[in-house]
Amino acid sequence: MHQKSALNYEWYFKPGFVPEDRVCSPSTCGFEAVDLPHTNRMLPLNYFSESAYQFVSCYKRLITIPGDWKGKTIFLEFEGVMLSCRVYLNGRLVGAHEGGYTPFTIEITPALRWREENVLVVEVDSREQDGIPPFGKVVDYLTYGGIYREVWLYAADSARLERLWLDCPDPLAKTKELCCGCDITAEEACRGELEITLWSPEHKMAGKIQEKLDLTPGTKRYRVTLTGLEGISLWDIENPHLYRVEAALCADGCESSLDERFGFRLARFTEKGFFLNGRELKLIGLNRHQSWPYVGYAMPERVQKKDVSILRDELGCNMVRTSHYPQSRHFLDACDESGLLVMEEIPGWQHIGDEEWKKHSLKELEAMIQRDYNRPSVILWGVRINESQDDHEFYERTNKLARSMDPGRQTGGTRYIRRSEFLEDVYTYNDFTQSGGKEVFAPQQDVTGLDKGVPLLVTESNGHMFPTKRFDQELRLTEHAMRHLRVINECMGREDLAGSLSWCAFDYNTHACFGSGDKICYHGVFDMFRNPKYAAYAYASQKDPKTGTVMEPATLISRGERDGSGTMPFYILTNCDFVRVYKNNKKVADFYPLREEFPYLKHPPVMVFHLMEEELMWAFSCEDQELLTGFLKKRVTKKTQAAIDPEDMEFLSGLAARSRRDVKELTALLFRSASGWGEKENNLVLEGYLGEQAVCKAEIGEGKCGARITAEADDPVIYTGKATYDAVRVTVKALDNMGALMPFTQECAEVCIEGPGALLGPSRFPLTGGISSFWVRTTGETGIIVIRIKGVEFRTECEIEVRRMEAAK
Ligand code: GAL
Repeated sequence: MHQKSALNYEWYFKPGFVPEDRVCSPSTCGFEAVDLPHTNRMLPLNYFSESAYQFVSCYKRLITIPGDWKGKTIFLEFEGVMLSCRVYLNGRLVGAHEGGYTPFTIEITPALRWREENVLVVEVDSREQDGIPPFGKVVDYLTYGGIYREVWLYAADSARLERLWLDCPDPLAKTKELCCGCDITAEEACRGELEITLWSPEHKMAGKIQEKLDLTPGTKRYRVTLTGLEGISLWDIENPHLYRVEAALCADGCESSLDERFGFRLARFTEKGFFLNGRELKLIGLNRHQSWPYVGYAMPERVQKKDVSILRDELGCNMVRTSHYPQSRHFLDACDESGLLVMEEIPGWQHIGDEEWKKHSLKELEAMIQRDYNRPSVILWGVRINESQDDHEFYERTNKLARSMDPGRQTGGTRYIRRSEFLEDVYTYNDFTQSGGKEVFAPQQDVTGLDKGVPLLVTESNGHMFPTKRFDQELRLTEHAMRHLRVINECMGREDLAGSLSWCAFDYNTHACFGSGDKICYHGVFDMFRNPKYAAYAYASQKDPKTGTVMEPATLISRGERDGSGTMPFYILTNCDFVRVYKNNKKVADFYPLREEFPYLKHPPVMVFHLMEEELMWAFSCEDQELLTGFLKKRVTKKTQAAIDPEDMEFLSGLAARSRRDVKELTALLFRSASGWGEKENNLVLEGYLGEQAVCKAEIGEGKCGARITAEADDPVIYTGKATYDAVRVTVKALDNMGALMPFTQECAEVCIEGPGALLGPSRFPLTGGISSFWVRTTGETGIIVIRIKGVEFRTECEIEVRRMEAAK
């Protein structure tokens, strides 16, 4: 076993770096105590200067090496430092690294003092450097700064296992094999014994092999195969069965072991679509940036994993693209655990630099594949710089490198230029055709320019075509959702398309030359706090209702809110069979999903197009009821209900004559009831039905008034004593008396925390759009964190329990 210890607590930090810092004095005067993941600057939510986090800083850590590590080789492993760093131990430069997204190790043995305190100093340069991807031109995202992922200290023996490369050559065979490539370092030639054990998800031994090896000096890959594996469960998106592979090496009196997770699965893109374990699967998902308000990239495991649960469980997506860089291992762990498929790509954005830059990029590609090779969730390596021009020579190299390291996984590379050179296995294309009309994606041949069908995956759509803030007007929010629905619908219906990943999951901080001028790009289906816009329900509503019913009315029901006034029509994003609408306690009608408009969606949205009480309808013949419903539908989809055209009069006169009414009286009835104009208040109850059964209910309406603020943590219990601190999101909502958000509220939150927790961000903020969130982290003690929130009108509080967990080994 590598002896490994987490090195995430008790760091010291100061912004700025002077040459004397390289001396590594033990003094921490002028430093602030911090834990990792750490951001070099807590930022405001928006409107900050880009120079705020672009500086060189100094991190310091005092280290004592355990006595029993004497004689071993000692390494530091950094999981991610933005953007480049130099590492000094006891005044000696022991290593340096460039590139913020992939891990690196640095041997520190030559500079160590065994029985004394060692002073580690990391000079972190978080300025944008043209020579390091993604930089060199403009980039539509921020990279923030600091040692923003975990750090480890470990001791290695003279003969040791370095890495496992796991493959199952034929996952669909009844009897399977597991090929283990084992990278072993031996400082001297020796005999060794390697034991590989395969453990099932239920912790039962599923296979074992022992082999004697003649180890030669240096690092080499030794191949060992477990054969005759029976009863192996496949990894798929519904049942992501994860096996564990344990490798143990005994050599030269040394013992070393590694533990890796593995999933048996076959993932193939073909010109007919994507197939997982031989079964076609339409890939539906979103792009993700790994950033949060205030702390940038620096979030611990639970928060990283929460994004997966949002995408997989809340939205029902089956794929994510890690735009535009390798993301946190915790995020990817959760993808493996939850069955969320991944396209992972190298850092970059439209720009390809010189030869040195390209070498950098190739190194990042290598490091990415090395880190994530064994992950069943990763089904595609993105080996082009996002949306770059063709570069035959460079992309031959990236493809060659990916294929030589990982012949079993296909390559893609995101482009926006049609007919650009296809050197990859999958044509991954950003298709922004959808701009509100019926056209959604270009035909495959127009995109590829090839005379044969190829595997095609849309890697982005929407985004800048329709930026939408969560606190925008309801019609914009609705159209935003409709555009996402159109994309899903098109994707489901197109046989030549493996799937579509839209832009994007979460709003994100960006440079001044992108976004809305406040350093936020409002392209997410969630805001930066992961609070949903209606578009999030475009995805959620496609889930099987067995996993939970979804019924989100995309409206405030407020007559004066829309241009031209009126509340009709509005859409309900739902996976129910139909929605029964009541107005002011009287039944209106049952409204059904828009199947004609969205023939390929599992659950098209429901359009509510009138509010005429059912009992008033009974005054008409059955035939006229149908005609009237059709008339109302046509009018609301064409324009607001307030205006009546001459051709409408023809229909209304006929209807009036047949029902023996005065046409004026009939028109007034329609205004009052169907459009709700005559009512003092339109208060609606919506009941979602599955078959005959009412399964969910919502109340919205004009009789709203402020009722309360609420605060709720994503998880009631978090842990201290892990490899690093834990954190959890708390969401504060301003709700009306019907339980709906109050988007125009002036409510705010002033947060006061008692107990073993600390805020990651400001303690006072507005409830913009009626909702906001914050994150609370552990501080080392156990107990109850009491969070009290004071608003303008209302107060609330919630609690989070902190328990102790054994430190990760
Ligand atoms: C794409 C780009 C993304 C993002 C998006 C906005 O062109 O790849 O990073 O900028 O546009 O819609």
